[in-house]
Amino acid sequence: MSAPLHRLSIDDLLDSVRAVLADESDLIANTANIASMLFEALPDVNWAGFYLHKGGELVLGPFQGRLACTRITIGKGVCGTAAQQRETVVVDDVHAFPGHIACDAVSASEIVVPIVANGALVGVLDIDSPVPARFSAQDKVMLEAVVAALVERLSVA
Ligand code: SME
Repeated sequence: MSAPLHRLSIDDLLDSVRAVLADESDLIANTANIASMLFEALPDVNWAGFYLHKGGELVLGPFQGRLACTRITIGKGVCGTAAQQRETVVVDDVHAFPGHIACDAVSASEIVVPIVANGALVGVLDIDSPVPARFSAQDKVMLEAVVAALVERLSVA
C-alpha cells in the first residue's frame, strides 16, 4: 500500500480494498480486513464492521470499535431494516430512527449496506459516526462498491 490509509481518497480506498480482496476469498478474513481499512481510513467513524446472516438473524462479525450487541433480528434496528429491505439505509440522526439499537452512546449517525450474493442475504456492513449526518451520497456509493467487490469475491470463490 503506497499511502497511509488515513490519507487515502475514497477512490484509492476502494482500490486498496480490491487489492486486499484479490489475494483472499475467505469471508471472515476479508470482512476483518475491510472493517480495519474502513475504520482507519474514514474520518469521524467510531465503529465499522459486519453482521453476518446466520440461523435467520444477524450475528456480530469482524469489526473495529467498541463492544457491540451480538445478535440482531431481521427487521429490527438500522441493521435489521437494511437486511430486510435489502437496500442501504442512511440515518442522519440515530436518535430519531424508530427502533435504533444503541450499542455505543456516542453514535449519532449510521449507514448500513446489505450484502446479498446470488439472491441470498449474507449480512450487512455497518458504520457508525459520532457526527450527525456524517454519511454523504458519495460515501453511500463508495461503501456499496466495497460491498459489491466483496460479493464478487464470494461469487468467484
Ligand atoms: N445501531 C445498529 C446496531 C449495531 S451497532 O451500531 C454496532 C442498529 O440499530 O441496527
